[in-house]
Amino acid sequence: MRIGSWTLPNNVLVAPMAGVTDRPFRQLCKRLGAGYAVSEMAASNPRLWDSVKTSRRLDHQGEIDPIAVQIAGADPDMMAEAAAFNVRKGARIIDINMGCPAKKVCSVASGSALLRDETLVARILQAVVAACAPLGVPVTLKTRTGWDREHRNALRVARLAQDIGIAALTLHGRTRADLYTGQAEYDTIRAVKAELDIPVVANGDIDSPEKARAVLDYTGADAIMIGRAAQGRPWIFREIDHYLRTGRRHPPPTLREMRALLLEHLEDHYRFYGEHTGVRTARKHIGWYVAGLPDARDFCARMNLIDNTAEQWRAVAGWFDELAREPAAATGPFAAIAPAYSLAA
Ligand SMILES: Cc1cc2nc3c(=O)[nH]c(=O)nc-3n(C[C@H](O)[C@H](O)[C@H](O)COP(=O)(O)O)c2cc1C
Repeated sequence: MRIGSWTLPNNVLVAPMAGVTDRPFRQLCKRLGAGYAVSEMAASNPRLWDSVKTSRRLDHQGEIDPIAVQIAGADPDMMAEAAAFNVRKGARIIDINMGCPAKKVCSVASGSALLRDETLVARILQAVVAACAPLGVPVTLKTRTGWDREHRNALRVARLAQDIGIAALTLHGRTRADLYTGQAEYDTIRAVKAELDIPVVANGDIDSPEKARAVLDYTGADAIMIGRAAQGRPWIFREIDHYLRTGRRHPPPTLREMRALLLEHLEDHYRFYGEHTGVRTARKHIGWYVAGLPDARDFCARMNLIDNTAEQWRAVAGWFDELAREPAAATGPFAAIAPAYSLAA
């Protein structure tokens, strides 16, 4: 899988998720086998660049290359400026978001709302590519299959993008109107891949090694991108990568490894966000990791009342230790006590 002059170590990628794929999580996913991770969306409006939230999103210290930053907005000049700004801050790849259905993004006609206006799409892509090309930085596009099921224009947008010089395209197999409901479809991704010369990344509802294999085979895509299934499950990347390479399942993490990974994630998370924000934003990650383990709900209810990081860390460590003493944990791998995950969890 290549993006411009970058060759990625594999074709299993982390989807950008605002509020989830921060630097600590991206680093963990990359360490556990993800070939690439795009940072959360950074605002294209310069007035927001000094906000704490945006400056955190612009902090790429220690991150494994290539650093990819996503930008969103509807004003071509502002998007070009935002791209150049992010390159100055360390981005090696710029990703344009035309896939986000969030109200905050769509109400200003950015994210997937842009799909309704192909002329504006072209102007934005041209402006960002023109800003990045002299800097040697490739520009990628992430989008959905269309505005709604009656207006699936991904193929036209994809051709437009390729002609303008976009280096790779990620397609989420839903329309904007679908939000996250129903099942992602892969026919549009397959049709787009058949038409394009640039790499195409398939995204949407991929949550297991077998599904990854099936989506790659069906669509002919060059890579797959995983979002929600990686929440609390960063090892999914090595499991999928292993399966794609060998056709065999990688063993699930043991309870001991899961404990170690979560505690390490928390330490990095606290360092990144500090005490006040760290303890609060860590709760959702902890909830995702423990979902499916015995008595997780009770544990989360107790854990959510804790408001300092040291105590939160100790509560997580202690809870895993307690769990390890249960008979089921002693008999085998983690799968023995947490046999099933689902995207809904
Ligand atoms: C909490 C959350 C935040 C997201 N934020 C972004 C974002 O900032 N930019 C973007 O392009 N997509 C965003 N997405 C969409 C994902 O990148 C991805 O396209 C979508 O979740 C489908 O993939 P999945 O089924 O593997 O989760 C977000 C999704 C979720 C669940």
